[in-house]
Amino acid sequence: MTFQPGCPLSRRSSARAPGEPRAVPAANLRRRGVRDTGGVAGLIPVPVRDAGDPRLADYVRLTDVSLRKSLEAASGLFVAEGEKVIRRAIAAGYPVRSMLVTEDKLAGLAGLASGCAAPVYVLPAAVARQLTGYQVHRGALASMARRPLPSVTEVVAGENRLVVLEDLVDHGNVGAIFRCAAALGVGAVILSPRCADPLYRRAVKVSMGAVFAIRYARMTHWHDGLAALRGAGFQLLALTPDQSAVPLADAVLGERVALLLGSEGDGLSSRWMHEADQAVCIPMSSAAMALGVDSLNVVAAAAVACHGLMRSPQDTGR
Ligand SMILES: C[S@@+](CC[C@H](N)C(=O)[O-])C[C@H]1O[C@@H](n2cnc3c(N)ncnc32)[C@H](O)[C@@H]1O
Repeated sequence: MTFQPGCPLSRRSSARAPGEPRAVPAANLRRRGVRDTGGVAGLIPVPVRDAGDPRLADYVRLTDVSLRKSLEAASGLFVAEGEKVIRRAIAAGYPVRSMLVTEDKLAGLAGLASGCAAPVYVLPAAVARQLTGYQVHRGALASMARRPLPSVTEVVAGENRLVVLEDLVDHGNVGAIFRCAAALGVGAVILSPRCADPLYRRAVKVSMGAVFAIRYARMTHWHDGLAALRGAGFQLLALTPDQSAVPLADAVLGERVALLLGSEGDGLSSRWMHEADQAVCIPMSSAAMALGVDSLNVVAAAAVACHGLMRSPQDTGR
């Protein structure tokens, strides 16, 4: 990533087109006798009509995965969508670079917009669609600054339950697994180097902000990635649809357990299967197997497996 941790991103995000007025706190303007627009306190929302406006560069072609990957990595940003998720990102301490609100939703999002410490750009819904490539149904997007990721060692310290994802490609699946992990008492998520980005817009959206609640880290090396977890005392359980593996419910759990989940297509690599302490399965019905349904979707497997770890009061907190 090329962004500077701790750099004043809000200053960068306030860059404006030549001749455009600067977004000024409403209170300052009122003191100067300038009337507020749009009835929103805080920063004056800046109306923008042109999808090509350079101030909107953070929001361009949000459905183009390869463009977004390179743009977001180069600029150190991610995009949060919808009021609830944006509020969760802010509460988790991610700085806002700017916010985009569609005109038709501005009144309902006044509280969010007025509390924003960065420029709020207000666009007609059609212009927002032209810019992003889809209908912005929730009416609000925020460009947020990423923070440097902690190391695996930092993240696993003090945790007894982990989910480890090997090369998942679907951002929605990654987001949904974070949500499962958060809901079912797993303390942290570890990603293989090639696993899809939890801060990609769709992952953030599907997780409903759980990606901000659960700590995570990315391994620097796939080959030796599991060795560090074993070294930290984690029992490595490889989840496989192979029904000859030990049913998860029968596995004897150690104090520290890491659940390894494989990619949507091929599942866990032979290297990780080999590295694991034990292969475990979620038993499937023989009728399903006879129909050719030979595995669960990885999110469903994660949910069942995380729940399967909740065997003691320590896990449920009850
Ligand atoms: C869609 S499956 C991959 C299927 C792949 N053909 C395989 O054999 O692993 C994705 C991941 O979900 C998990 N999974 C799916 N069904 C499972 C089951 N019945 N028991 C345990 N894990 C399962 C595994 O971690 C798997 O790698």
